[in-house]
Formats: sequence, structure tokens, C-alpha cells
Amino acid sequence: MHRSIDHLSLEDKVTLLTGNSFWTTRSIPDAGVEGALLTDGPHGVRLQQGDADHLGINSSAPATAFPPAATTGSSWDPRLLEEMGVALGRESLALGVDVLLGPGINIKRSPLGGRNFEYFSEDPLLSGALGAGWVRGIESQGVGASVKHFAANNQETDRMSISADVDERTLREIYFPAFERTVNEARPSTVMCSYNKINGVYASQNSWLLSSVLRDDWGFDGYVVSDWGAVVDPVAAVEAGLDLEMPGVGDASPNAILQAVRDGRLSEATIDTAVSRILETHDRLRARRTAEGASFTGDEHHALARRIATESTVLLRNEGNLLPLSSNDDAGSLAVIGEFARTPRFQGAGSSFVNPTRLDSALDALAARTSRPVTFAAGFRLDGERDDALLTEAVAAARDADTAVLFLGLPPQDESEGFDREHMDMSAVQQELAAAVVAVNPRTVVVLSNGAVVTVTGVLDDAPAIIEAWLGGQAGGSAIADVLFGDAEPGGRLAETIPHALSHTPAHINWPGSDGHVLYGERLYVGYRWYDSVDRDVAFPFGYGLSYTSFEYSDLTVDVVEGEAAATVSFAVTNTGERAGSDVAQLYVGDSHSRVDRPVRELRGFEKVRLQPGESERVTIELGARAFAYWGSEGWVTDPGDFTIEVGRSSREIVLSGVASITVPPSLPRLDGDSTVNQWMEHPKAAPILAEVFAGWNDGGVSDTMGVDTMKLVGGMPLRTLLTMTAQAPAGSEAEAPTVEGLLAKLDASL
Ligand code: GLC
Repeated sequence: MHRSIDHLSLEDKVTLLTGNSFWTTRSIPDAGVEGALLTDGPHGVRLQQGDADHLGINSSAPATAFPPAATTGSSWDPRLLEEMGVALGRESLALGVDVLLGPGINIKRSPLGGRNFEYFSEDPLLSGALGAGWVRGIESQGVGASVKHFAANNQETDRMSISADVDERTLREIYFPAFERTVNEARPSTVMCSYNKINGVYASQNSWLLSSVLRDDWGFDGYVVSDWGAVVDPVAAVEAGLDLEMPGVGDASPNAILQAVRDGRLSEATIDTAVSRILETHDRLRARRTAEGASFTGDEHHALARRIATESTVLLRNEGNLLPLSSNDDAGSLAVIGEFARTPRFQGAGSSFVNPTRLDSALDALAARTSRPVTFAAGFRLDGERDDALLTEAVAAARDADTAVLFLGLPPQDESEGFDREHMDMSAVQQELAAAVVAVNPRTVVVLSNGAVVTVTGVLDDAPAIIEAWLGGQAGGSAIADVLFGDAEPGGRLAETIPHALSHTPAHINWPGSDGHVLYGERLYVGYRWYDSVDRDVAFPFGYGLSYTSFEYSDLTVDVVEGEAAATVSFAVTNTGERAGSDVAQLYVGDSHSRVDRPVRELRGFEKVRLQPGESERVTIELGARAFAYWGSEGWVTDPGDFTIEVGRSSREIVLSGVASITVPPSLPRLDGDSTVNQWMEHPKAAPILAEVFAGWNDGGVSDTMGVDTMKLVGGMPLRTLLTMTAQAPAGSEAEAPTVEGLLAKLDASL
């Protein structure tokens, strides 16, 4: 228990379980209790000094606006996220912030998610690895993280009331692992529970979620803070394992909790546990801080934001090696088209909205980078309204230039916290502009600025070069100039699939739910797990991205640990091009032998390699038990057999393949009378026992009466039903008719 507990009355203790104001917790100096300041994240510090809100409406202190998660997710670089976390920690300390609310690591279940800009990926391993990097960085500075939003907050529609109806296997294999990995690898000070219900129970009072899974299964030892306004019943919340309700709601919650203790509905020990978690966590943070923690310069962080953006920029197409552009003035003029080149689209709207210390425009950066003549045409209005004069001007500029760089994407009003998108398309005006510009200039480079996937099929089919720059943060304009001119290479790979059409997306028919429920009917099949398993063509696959150089993969070895679900996978990567560059080697595992259905491949490891021309590096990735396991009825299960091992440059470009023969003992399901005949016959110990019963029937085996293998007719029957319907002793034997109890006794004796 925290040292202050003994000096606090019950009346005082219950006031510590809710905020003191919108952003702070209560201090009780006489008892040695210091309050704390929590505020948003995740891609910059949003410290409001005036009116407070949780939607980014009121202004905040200047802070570095790093690229949001949709962008950094494409970096595939946990170490880079750790650097960003360190910087965020230092800026937090400078502004007096104790806990920065992030990272957001919810899975992108649909491209329509309004907050997809704030989340990393469609894949849980990548999301967890990047989230853990962010947390390691910020926690190292003595500033707490708040991993959010736990859990299954994958849409904005009715986010504060809807029930995410998800089977446990899907939660454990898809929606939990990023949180599990972040908790286990980076030990965040806090976890933020989500607004929504999970299978009918609010996350804020879901003891299975907050205590059984988060603490008992994963060992989380910080405190759970609610999303702002997510507590519905403060007594049920404390009981379930929610420690801190935010924001402060005055005396209502403390009084309700106090009354519940006095009525015996809540124990004082539960209050003490929650108070101790909060105070001990804040003590640990303060003890970790050093004097140099707050030392940084805005320029240093701006430069870091720029590097993060280039490392996260994805080159989708580069026909005829149009890129990188030449900066020589004899290379002809550049037409920079699109309002986003002048007015950067650099972050998403809502609680994460940061007041940047400075903001680079691509137009200025491009003009400063080259002596080539540069013209500008806005092409479209930010409000989306059509303006023929702008369109005409843009087409003329493109026609008159050697090369056109066309900035398109999603305007601020199209994607935000609080609501989801209705479609994946860019505006009609922008689509028309794209077609017109590409038609008059075959050397057109399209640069996309968007926080969530946009439809490119049928819109940009004729564009020879496309860069997905996502939302570039405050230095994004300079970063795109670095990539366009080749001062930096596009180091990003897609962290989410770009499908051809919304109707192809796995969540499509179950999105966004209705009448208070959203069914995760696609189960495990999110993102590439869906497209690859149903072999659906996509515009650009998960993990995809071009480079300005080329790479070759070779010499795969797969070393399995005998008798264990473990393997060491090793291979070589060579830069076969003329320029230095980076590539993301992705390791996928497939299991076609288990009795349960599984996605055709799942990301189980990755490594970003940076190589000079001609340089080779050997990559080694260790696969542990979870790389082969699925969630069964009683926990993680690995069925012995041959697993495919695939090394890919995307989920669709597999460059090396092998097999891992795993020889762990089979997981034996617990059998009973409800188990089917097939389940009994698949069980190595039960099969001979049941075969003996069949052997006594009809001269050795269930006879074939209709030209159909009778076992296929009865295989799906529960054993109790079969025995009841054929209640007879084997012909000519003195034995009693077989019973479930008798067969189970034989089975138990054989185990
Ligand atoms: C918001 C968001 C959460 C944020 C919090 C405080 O509603 O869901 O991500 O940290 O409230 O602004």
C-alpha cells in the first residue's frame, strides 16, 4: 500500500479516484499526496491553459506536432517511435505534464474509422511493436503513457454507447495483442479504458477486461484511467478495476463510492488498492526524472519530426523512375498543384490536435530546394466546393510545366475523432482535378495527404508516380521535398491494405452496426488476413512500398527447436541498387493443418534494414510459441505439424519460403458426451476406445448402407446421441451397452 494511505481518511481516499479538474488529479499536501497533470498526445503535447475540452476545440500551448500514428505506422521502426517518445517526454516535462495520453493502438478494422489517423495498423503485431517503442521512449523520461483505448474501440459511430460484439478468440488474437505486447514489453504507467461496451458490458466496468485479462493474464501494474467521460457507474467501475475516473466530476462519484463502502457494497481495501496504484505510479514517474530530461530545442524536435515523416512516406508507384526529381535547373519547370501544398494537411481533428511550433509547406520547401522554375495552382478549395477557375488554372499550370506535383487527399472535415467516414473516396473535385492534370502532363507525381486510406483505383490509374505521405506532421512539407528530390528515400511500407473498393473490405457488411451493437462478424479476418485468405486482389497490399534502390533476399534457414513451438528464421538481404536505402523484411507464418480455421498468413516478425549499395545483412528473427498458437477454448494452443514460413516485402510479395515442422504434443481437448464422434476419433487416446465399440457392430465397423461412408453421417453427432440411438450391446458379447460414463472412465484410465 502507498505510504500515504495510513494518513488518509476514507473520505479523502475516495476523492483521489476521480479527477480534480478536467486534466488534473487531486493533491492532499498534508498527507504527502501530489496531484498529477494528464493531457493528450499522442503525436504532440496538447496542453490547454484556458478552457478545457477533450475534442481539440480550445487552443493549447505550442508543441511539436509529430506525424500521427497512421504515418508513423508506415515507418515499421519501433526504435524511431522510441525516439519520438523520448522527445514527447521531454516536451511534456517542459510543460509540466505527468501523463501523456497515448499511444492509440486500436486496430484499423475498416478504412472508414474516423480516428484511423491516430492508430498504427490493421495488424496487431506491428501495432504492438510500435506502441511499445513509443511507450519505452516516453516512460524513460519519467512521463507516463496511457495506452488507449482498451479495448475494441474501432469506430467512432456511437462510440460512447455501442457494444462491440466480438468472440473471445478474435479479441485475444486481433484486438488484444497490441495492448498485451505494449504492457509486457514497455510497462506503461497507465492504460486508458475505452468508451464502448464489449459484449454488452462497458469497458469502464468490465472486470474480465480490466482485472482478469489486463492484470491477471498480462501482469499490468500501473493504473487504469477512464477515457474522458467513459465512467457510467463509478462504484461498478472501481469494483471492476478502473482506478481513476477522468475528468473530475465534482463530488458525485466520490460520494457514491463512499456510500457504497459504508453500505458494505464495496470494501475499503478495494479503494486502498486503487489509490495506491495511482499514487505509486506517479511516485515512480517522478523518481525517474532527471534534470536533463527537459532539455531540447524546438529545432531538434522539428528535425526529428521531418525524419520521422520521410521514414514513413510510402512510394506506391514510380513508373519510368520519374522519381527522384532532378533539382538541376535544366530539368525544366515544376508545377506544384493542390491547396495542400500551400496549406498542409498535417494532423487529424479531435483530442489529438496540436498547436505546432512551426509548420512547413511543401510549396515553400520545394521552391527552396531547387533552382528550377516553380509555379503554384491551388486546384481546389479546402471546403470542397467546386471552383472552375481554380481547376482551369491548375490544368494550365500542369500543361505548361515539365513536371507536375499534384497534392491531393482528405480535407480536415473528412476525417476526425467523433465520426466515421461514409466512403473511402476523395472529393469529386479532387478526382476531376487528378484526371485533368494527368491527362495534360504525363510526368505527374501525385502526393496524397490523408489519415485514412483513400480509393486510388479508377482515380489514379494513369498517374505514373504516387506517394502516400499520410499526415506528415509539422515538418511534413519539408519531408516530402526531401523524398521528391531524393535527399531522403521513401522509407515507409503500408501498415494497412489499400483495397480496390469499400465493398471488398472485410467489415463492410457489419459496419458500423445498429441498435447499439456492432458485430465483428469477420472475426480474425481483418485487413490482409481477409484479402489474402480469400485471394481478393487489392490496389496495394499490406507491407508494400517501393524504394529508390532494389533489394534481393536469399539463403533462408529455418531452425526448429525439437519438441518446442519455437524456431529461428534467418536470411540475407542485399541492396542490389545504386543508392543507399532501407527495406522492411516481413516474416509471415501460416498454419493449414490445425483443426480450427486460420488466416492464410499472419505477420510474426519484421526487421527494417538499412543498406549501402551492394551491402548485405543477415537478418535473424526468433519465433516463440505465440508465433504458432491460436486461442483455443482453454487458452493458447499449438497443433503440431508443418507451418509455412514466408519472408515477404509485402503480404503479397513473398520472396523466400520454408517450413517449420513443429513437434509439440497435440493439445488434447477435454472430451465428454457432447463431444462429437469426430472429436473422439481425432483424439489419439479416445479413438481406439470408440473404434472398439464400432468394431462390435456389424462385423467390424459401422456398415456402409447407402454408398456413403457412414462415419461421415455420424461423425458430427454428439457421442451421447449416437450411443442413445444405438443403445445395444455389441452382437454376441456379454458386455453392457456402451455408455458415455463408461467410455470416459476408460479414457481417463488411458491418459
Ligand atoms: C477523448 C479521446 C481520448 C482522449 C481523451 C482526453 O474523448 O477518446 O483519446 O485522450 O478524450 O481528451
